[in-house]
Amino acid sequence: MINDNSQVSSGRGSIIMFAGKGGVGKTTCAAAAALHYASLGEQTLAISTDATPSLSHIFEIKDNKKPARVKESLYINELGAEEVKEMWDNKFGSDVYGVFSSFVSIDYADFVEFMTSILPGLSDEFMVDYIRELHMKGEYETVVWDTAPLGQTLALLETPTLLGKHLRMAPRIYSKLKFSQMSREPILDILKRWEKLSADNMDFLRNGVRFTMVTIPEALAVEQLEGTFKELNEYDLEVKQLVINNVVKEENSDFMLTKAKQQKNYLEAIYDRYSDLEIVELPMFPYELKGLDRLKEVERILFDL
Ligand SMILES: Nc1ncnc2c1ncn2[C@@H]1O[C@H](COP(=O)(O)OP(=O)(O)OP(=O)(O)O)[C@@H](O)[C@H]1O
Ligand SMILES: [Mg+2]
Repeated sequence: MINDNSQVSSGRGSIIMFAGKGGVGKTTCAAAAALHYASLGEQTLAISTDATPSLSHIFEIKDNKKPARVKESLYINELGAEEVKEMWDNKFGSDVYGVFSSFVSIDYADFVEFMTSILPGLSDEFMVDYIRELHMKGEYETVVWDTAPLGQTLALLETPTLLGKHLRMAPRIYSKLKFSQMSREPILDILKRWEKLSADNMDFLRNGVRFTMVTIPEALAVEQLEGTFKELNEYDLEVKQLVINNVVKEENSDFMLTKAKQQKNYLEAIYDRYSDLEIVELPMFPYELKGLDRLKEVERILFDL
């Protein structure tokens, strides 16, 4: 069962992130968890930072509003490239433009486009920042964060470190530039502010977010799990819960029997290796998990109702 009573240490509500490799069921679990918290009466937001979002599809919502209402207490928001650009623009755009335009002639709109497309992980970092601000505002009691497949999630964790490295170089580069109208001081201030933002975001991931890993009982997924946990540990990010999805429970045909047999080894390997985690199994369903009724079935299993 997914443990739903641990409150995060700072801010008002809980933030739960579902992570794992592509297609293992992160969005399905995130949607079912969001439905669960909303049905407990908590103002809940399911938010996706995936480039190809599927929350609206899974909840069968046509409404393009951001956030869009699913039902009482339950909202979804799918953050895309445009929103990220806007966030970056609001927070840093004019400051950094001020610096750049003192030595490069570039239009403001082109500049924002350029910056948000070129900087590594900038969009991921601002998504973390957006969710952190949401948390601080306390508008939602629970935020369920559905992430992109593994690669991008790890890139997201890498961002502050990468940014840190870039920033350490930057003052040396800037100090070599001759500025006619402005002193070097404001630039360093801006960089410091940015560095602080990275540190705050990393702190937030460490202390404010509860990670739930999702996997399936198959060779590649199990193999990759090890590496993912290792990388998360390197950043001091602790995973407490693990969902094993697509577990074959009905062995009433040769096909299913063979499949179940094959899964057995991987299930054993997972239980063996991750005995310190809360593990919950989600069976393989014979139908698409889409719409509130189907999601309720997933909720019942995940939360042992
Ligand atoms: N237990 C299950 N039984 C049957 N189908 C499932 C199960 N879990 C997920 N699915 C289906 O598998 C597909 C992928 O699931 P989902 O979108 O939740 O994965 P994801 O990890 O979010 O994928 P992505 O990495 O692409 O975002 C969906 O069509 C979903 O309905
Ligand atoms: Mg998904």
